[in-house]
Order: sequence, then C-alpha cells, then structure tokens
Amino acid sequence: MYQVIARKYRPQNFSELIGQEHVQQTLTNAIEARRIAHGYIFSGQRGTGKTTVARILARCLNCVNGPTAQPCGVCSSCVEISAGNAIDVIEIDAASNRGINEMREIRENVRFRPARDRYKIFIIDEAHQITKEAFNALLKTLEEPPEWVVFILCTTEAHEIPNTIASRCQHFTFRSVDFSEIVERMKHIAAQEGIEASDEVLSIVAQAGEGSVRDSLSALDQAIACCGTKLSSAQVRALLGIFGFESLAAVAHAIQAQDSGRMLDIVEELERNGQSLHHFSRELARYWRNLLVAKIAGKPTRLIAASEPEQQPFLEVAKLFSEEDLTRYLNLSLTLYTDLQTSLQPRLHLELGLVKLVQAGRIQSIEEALAALGSGAPAAAAPKPAALKATIPTEPLVAPASKAPISTAPATSALHAPVPEGDFKDALQTALVKAGLNFTADAIAQSEVTLGTSELLLRAPKMLLLSLKEPKLQTIASELAGRKLQIRTEASAQAAVSPSAAANSTPEPQENSDLRTRALSHPGVKRFQELFPDAQVRAVRNLNE
Ligand SMILES: Nc1ncnc2c1ncn2[C@@H]1O[C@H](COP(=O)(O)OP(=O)(O)O)[C@@H](O)[C@H]1O
Ligand SMILES: [Mg+2]
Ligand SMILES: [Zn+2]
Repeated sequence: MYQVIARKYRPQNFSELIGQEHVQQTLTNAIEARRIAHGYIFSGQRGTGKTTVARILARCLNCVNGPTAQPCGVCSSCVEISAGNAIDVIEIDAASNRGINEMREIRENVRFRPARDRYKIFIIDEAHQITKEAFNALLKTLEEPPEWVVFILCTTEAHEIPNTIASRCQHFTFRSVDFSEIVERMKHIAAQEGIEASDEVLSIVAQAGEGSVRDSLSALDQAIACCGTKLSSAQVRALLGIFGFESLAAVAHAIQAQDSGRMLDIVEELERNGQSLHHFSRELARYWRNLLVAKIAGKPTRLIAASEPEQQPFLEVAKLFSEEDLTRYLNLSLTLYTDLQTSLQPRLHLELGLVKLVQAGRIQSIEEALAALGSGAPAAAAPKPAALKATIPTEPLVAPASKAPISTAPATSALHAPVPEGDFKDALQTALVKAGLNFTADAIAQSEVTLGTSELLLRAPKMLLLSLKEPKLQTIASELAGRKLQIRTEASAQAAVSPSAAANSTPEPQENSDLRTRALSHPGVKRFQELFPDAQVRAVRNLNE
C-alpha cells in the first residue's frame, strides 16, 4: 500500500526534525533535568512539526529507557506510540471531540494511573476548537494534576486558548521552516525513494509549501504521481501552478517599458496555454514581495525561498525599481489577487490589474513633485533629483508650467502655418491604440490638438498630460505627419481653490484670512496647485507663531 511521504517520513526523534531548534533544545534540557511540565502548548503554522514533536516527547517520556531525550525506538512503548496505538498515549482530535462529555471522560481517565508506562499523555490536536465548558473541565484537571499526567495541546491559533489554561502550560512556538532546510530534507527523501529530481525541481516543490513541511511533502507526492520517478521542472511547474521566472519578469519589463499592450499579450498567452490566472496573480504578488526583499537586502537572503544563484535575477530586476515602486506594485498585486478570488471575469480583472501596474509606474510621488518645483518648494522638502524616474515625463510636467505662464491665449507664436487638427487627431488616436498606447490615446482624445509644421501642441488638464508616453507619441505623430514633430504640452486647467472647499472650511478670523491670501499667492503654493489641480487648501498656519 502506498503511504504518503509526509507520514512515511515523520521524524521519530529530535535528530530527524528540521528547524524548531529552540523547541528541541528546551525539551531536551527539561527531560535531562527531569523537569517535566503537566501541560504544554505547541502552537504555529500547520505542517511544521507540532504533532510530530508531541509524539517524540511522548516516546522520550515513556520509552523503557526513559525519560530520555534519545528514545530507543524499538521497545513496545516506542513502537506503539509511532503507530498511534499506545494505551497510555491518548490522541484526541478536538475538531471532532470538542465537547464537555469528552473532557469529562478525560477527567475520569486522568485519575487512574497509567496502564503500563510512566506517564499518561494526552495529545489534543486543534486544541483551540475545544468548547468553553470543555476548557473549564480541562482547567480543573490542570489545577491539580496527578503526578503521572501530561497534556500537550497543539494548535494553529494560540490566542484562542484561554489564559487560565495557557498560564498553567509551557508554551512553544513552532516557526515556519527555512526553504533551504526543506530542500535538504526532500533531497534525502528523494534519494531514499529512488526519485530523480534536480535542485531546480526540489526548489519548486519546496516553494509550494510556503514554510510548511507537510505541504511541501504533499507537493512532492503530487509531483511523483504526475511524473513518475523522474521529475521534470516544466511538468512540476505546470502541476503546481508555479510560473517560471521569465513570465513574471515579463511583467516587470512591461512596466519598465511603460507598455500596456505587452501586458495584454501576457494575459493572452496565459489563456492560450491554459494556465490558471489565479495562480498567476498569486505568483505575481509573491514575485514583487521577493523583489522588494531583494531590494532591501541588496544581496541573497534566506528570506527569499530560492537558492543563492536563483536569487541573482531578483537582484538584477530589483535594481530597475525603487523601494517605493516595488511596495506599490506589491500592494496593487495583492489587491489584484484578492479581487481575482471572487471575480467572475478573471481575465478582465487580470488585464485591468496589469495595466494599472503600468500606470502606477507613472505616479509621481509628493517628494518628486516638490523637487520639481525647484526654488518655489518649501525648504523642508529637499529636492531629490536622483529619485526622478526615467519613466516619468518630467519635461512636459514641469517645463510648460514654469517657462510659459498658463494663459488662455493660444500659443500660436511658435507654430508655423497651423493646419486644423481635422483627421490628424483621429488618425493619431488609431495609431496609438494600435501600438498598445491606450492611455496616451485616451489623453489625446481629451486634448485640444494643434498640428504645426514642426511641433504638435497638446492642451489638456495637467493630470491628463501625466499619462502621455511622450517619446513614443513623438515617433508615431512624426510618422503620421511625414515630418519630424516636437511634442509640446500646455496645461489647460487653471489651478484654483475649489469653491466647495472654501465653503466647507470653518470661517476664519480676519487676520487669518489675510494670511490665507498671502499664502495662496505664494509662487510655491501656486505651482503646487497647478501640479495637483484637485488639491484643496484646508488650513493656513503661520509657523513662526
Ligand atoms: N519540523 C519538521 N521536520 C521534519 N518533518 C516535518 C517537520 N514538520 C512537519 N514535518 C513533516 O510533515 C508531516 C506533518 O507534520 P505535523 O507534525 O503533523 O505538523 P503539524 O504542525 O500540523 O502538527 C510530518 O509527518 C513530517 O513528515
Ligand atoms: Mg498536527
Ligand atoms: Zn523505547
């Protein structure tokens, strides 16, 4: 009969256990010093060894040679505990036996000495599921425990164990196990099982468990069921819904190139290859997380579930973005992942989410905007020119506002023989959509477009101008016109304090309103409002007072 790997390779003593060194060490010391508690709480992520350690501890206590930190493994106590049928070791699944009756039974049972062994050990799994009344019954036992009784409560939700119980127990927290240790363990198991698996395959399988040894081993079972004795990385990737570095890096590069069209292609490819869009969104979020960690660490780190050489590409790609960018992308990807969980139109959501990532690349931070304000900026916000990204069209953003004052008069002086926009605007939009520049096309649609002999003048609200992809726009417009065109932009919206904001604010005393007028006429404030037309001035304070 086939036995699942996780069961077959359940560690039988502390030396086989991976991770959880602090648990091993403390328990070993306690056993050697004969300081055995009557109650233990083992808490932590699923599949990290709680039940396993509970059984090892039971063997340590009840082995004929015990109490010992190195149980013999061959006496009837050791053998029966491993098989789960030792008369003095009682395992209770609290998920199905959570009531008062079970606890009463335990209380009765506790009063009698062990039938054969040293201790009577109760291992209660999913202990947080016990009912309140049952906990009370348990508490009575823990308050005056017979010398031979040991309770081990295993749970993923330590905070749901009542304080009255927890304060009478020794608490051990089980950590998620390091990626490299899981890979090592699987190498050992693969060798035992005669399975041929490269480091790459094992690393894919280990990743699937997200720190849970059991989940990684279940993934290994799945891989063996699917591939037989020789595991191929492509097959295993497809099976576990894990995407190659390349397909995720394609997203990063599309952002870098500000290419929304490429994003749509990526979704198209996923669909064509029958890949799960849910999995992709999950892996994408994990990818940004890894890039962010790589960016912060600046070198290979154990916080990333990949071997050192495998981490190199993360470090490379992370260089293309700022920490702030990566945080933003991670955030957006997590939202996308959540949205996809419940979406009836996953493809649409994924497309939207990926295009949003491209747009997010263009969002200017307050620091950058202030830096761009130059001398008008408050001294506190030191200009950070280094933070300016190549992808932000800083030129059209700032230059027209500072060089050419915003006026309602058309800036015809620079234009030679302007031709009516006529078909040109429509043709330009079509060409932009074809090139995948949908947002630029949209911005053009909403702009006043004037075609000159050597330049294309665009007048639109400032926020719209932000979404222009200028270099590509210039190339496409020049091609259409059959001559080289410069792109010139002009903001059309006049910055103003919105009347509603003024009405909302509480009436201010006379001298304050004077202060307000002076503040609002400050060139720095004026330019800030040009950059952020929707911004409202809520209050004005004199910092010298
Ligand atoms: N720390 C670990 N070291 C080695 N194997 C482990 C470890 N944790 C879990 N496993 C593997 O996963 C299986 C399930 O572990 P278990 O102890 O039942 O996890 P849980 O924490 O959910 O109680 C074990 O049979 C074993 O194969
Ligand atoms: Mg368990
Ligand atoms: Zn033994």
